[in-house]
Amino acid sequence: MSRFPSEPRSDKAGLESHPQQGDALTSRFLQTREWTEKLCEPLSAEDCAVQSMVDASPAKWHLAHTTWFFETFLLRPYLPKYQVFHRRFSYLFNSYYNAVGDRHPRPQRGMLTRPPLEDVFAYRAHIDRHMAELLDTNESIETARLIEIGIHHEQQHQELLLTDVKHLLSCNPLLPAYREEDPRPICGDGTDQATESQFFTYEGGVREIGHRGDVFCYDNERPRHEVLLSSFRLAARPVGNAEYAAFIDDGGYRRPELWLSLGWDIAQRDRWERPMYWADHEGREAFTLYGARPLDAEAPVSHLSFYEADAFARWSGKRLPTEAEWEIAAADLTPETVETANLAETNLLEPIATNDDAVDRPAQMLGDVWEWTASPYVGYPGYRPPAGALGEYNGKFMSNQMVLRGGSAVTPQSHVRKTYRNFFPPEARWQFGGFRLAEDA
Ligand code: AVJ
Ligand code: FE
Repeated sequence: MSRFPSEPRSDKAGLESHPQQGDALTSRFLQTREWTEKLCEPLSAEDCAVQSMVDASPAKWHLAHTTWFFETFLLRPYLPKYQVFHRRFSYLFNSYYNAVGDRHPRPQRGMLTRPPLEDVFAYRAHIDRHMAELLDTNESIETARLIEIGIHHEQQHQELLLTDVKHLLSCNPLLPAYREEDPRPICGDGTDQATESQFFTYEGGVREIGHRGDVFCYDNERPRHEVLLSSFRLAARPVGNAEYAAFIDDGGYRRPELWLSLGWDIAQRDRWERPMYWADHEGREAFTLYGARPLDAEAPVSHLSFYEADAFARWSGKRLPTEAEWEIAAADLTPETVETANLAETNLLEPIATNDDAVDRPAQMLGDVWEWTASPYVGYPGYRPPAGALGEYNGKFMSNQMVLRGGSAVTPQSHVRKTYRNFFPPEARWQFGGFRLAEDA
């Protein structure tokens, strides 16, 4: 089995990885499993079964696939005499691991009316029981590391579950709410003026980015390595809804000179005229997990493709930051920044306007919206995917996708970090994707 988190021996700091063990790991495992089920409480069995598009998966599939992950990578190899819950579930719930075997085609995940939802919950309970046994009896670093990956994997799917449910509900003309009461601070009526962000200047030079490997990280965050940066400026906050409305007003979606060619083609083909969930061009109202709601003019714009972010940047005479610029600017984030960020724990489920008026560092680097960067998703210098099936987790997707940074309003706090590299194809819009501007200094 692979040693999925980066190999400590190639780490410059020479630090061994110290995965959490015993009770702490067990309780994090159980909390993570419970939270996934909690997220499904507002959903009916019908809500859980439908696949609204190829990119999205039914909630039922997320519930089962995250469970399959623990069964496949922990219980089968490490729990003596473990019997699988169902012989064919590996076929149904393997996502993309060729090394594990053949699987149900992704576009048909919504056809699985059987097993019924209650069997999927029984599958979860079965796996949780056996995982408790494994956690009690196996204290090896190897299994602790794999459980850590399984927890982070399930957290990724918690976010995907919400973005997929949002897309599904948006397809219903009744625009049903995932959650009825909207706990967000009172927001504007969309008539507020667009205000341009301040910028902070960063000195160029030889810098280091990437994870040190002293605690958990994904393989794609390593090796830590040097980058050469020219001096640059980075916006104090992500671009807001009212600012984005001004771009639309100025013909942003009708001017090919602002767009990359592939983006322009897709925008024409799919008739893009505004961000994915906006009800009108002015950005007065949008579909949210609370149903159709007035949009906060000052809140970060979200549900954009990379191409839209890039076109806006060109329109404004600026550009998107590279992921290295983003990470250098994120260097002085404190634990307090993490705690106050609008991540999943705030339970707001949507990006909000910042109340952080710090004058010395950018706000909203973590939370609210994933920020599209100008960087293609490729391996860092010296990157090698780990051996074994889990080597397929991140490495094989390193073409034709772009990096996003910082986490969104539905990313768990304990999941994201400043070196975290999310990635999606440049045309993807259903994630909480937004952006912040940069320019050469
Ligand atoms: C990093 C969000 C693109 O959606 O496939 C889930 C996350 N990896 N299971 C994806 C993931 C394995 C991944 N993204
Ligand atoms: Fe997965």
